[in-house]
Amino acid sequence: MSAEIIDGKAFAANIRAEVARDCAAFREKTGIQPGLAVILVGNDPASEVYVRNKGIQAKEVGFASLEYKLPADTSQEALLAKVAALNADPKVHGILVQLPLPKHLDADAVLNTITPDKDVDGFHPVNVGRLWTGNPVSIPCTPLGCSLILRDRLGDLAGKRAIVIGRSNIVGKPMAALLLAANATVTIAHSRTADLAARCREADIVIAAVGKPELVRGDWLKPGATVLDVGINRIADGDKTRLVGDVHFASAAEVASAITPVPGGIGPMTIACLLRNTLACAKALHALHD
Ligand code: GUN
Repeated sequence: MSAEIIDGKAFAANIRAEVARDCAAFREKTGIQPGLAVILVGNDPASEVYVRNKGIQAKEVGFASLEYKLPADTSQEALLAKVAALNADPKVHGILVQLPLPKHLDADAVLNTITPDKDVDGFHPVNVGRLWTGNPVSIPCTPLGCSLILRDRLGDLAGKRAIVIGRSNIVGKPMAALLLAANATVTIAHSRTADLAARCREADIVIAAVGKPELVRGDWLKPGATVLDVGINRIADGDKTRLVGDVHFASAAEVASAITPVPGGIGPMTIACLLRNTLACAKALHALHD
């Protein structure tokens, strides 16, 4: 079998087009332009690229984009004060603090300070609770992107066996919540899972989000499985480097029925879903104050 390669870029472009249409209709109806504020502390080059792309794409769909670049030695108090100011700013509907933060800052305390109604990452404990109890506004962006792809490819997930490899708060745990909400039977695997390959072989859906280059190989997969690769790992290749996922693409593509590539698979979905969350927050805030 040779798997269908899922085009995340095209999928993300469709989501952005949908958000742009909905945003125009919302502005027409309410006169409100959704505003997304992104805070970047320090100058990590990868984070700078992400933040720049977020700003560009936010403007493209019709949002106001506010970017705050704070120096690497910003104090916890100063960062919390910035978040508090954005919480109170009626022009801002979504707040994102780019992770990772410099080591001297307490990321949990910062994320917990973002008001849940503007938490476009869906990382605040209130939003984690809303997700697990089935009433979410913001859903963490990468798992949301995976869910939208799965729904498009597979339709109803009821009764399907899914394995999520990785248990981070950003991807693994919220991914498991979404699969469970869609009535899949979910295994959450991690570094201590016994016989991971055998657990993987039981799954109709494999989500690899563990940060280990090319861990999941073709002989770990059930024939016809759908494989979503969330990993982005830079590995040495001769005297150059290249990006690979958590799945060994060539062998997996021989066994799976559909697979996302790296790059160009799940990655582009993340910002598209951030824009979707921002519009959802703007609508919910408007409904709250209407
Ligand atoms: N850094 C890498 N991915 C993310 C994300 O989804 N949200 C935030 N805030 N920071 C990130």
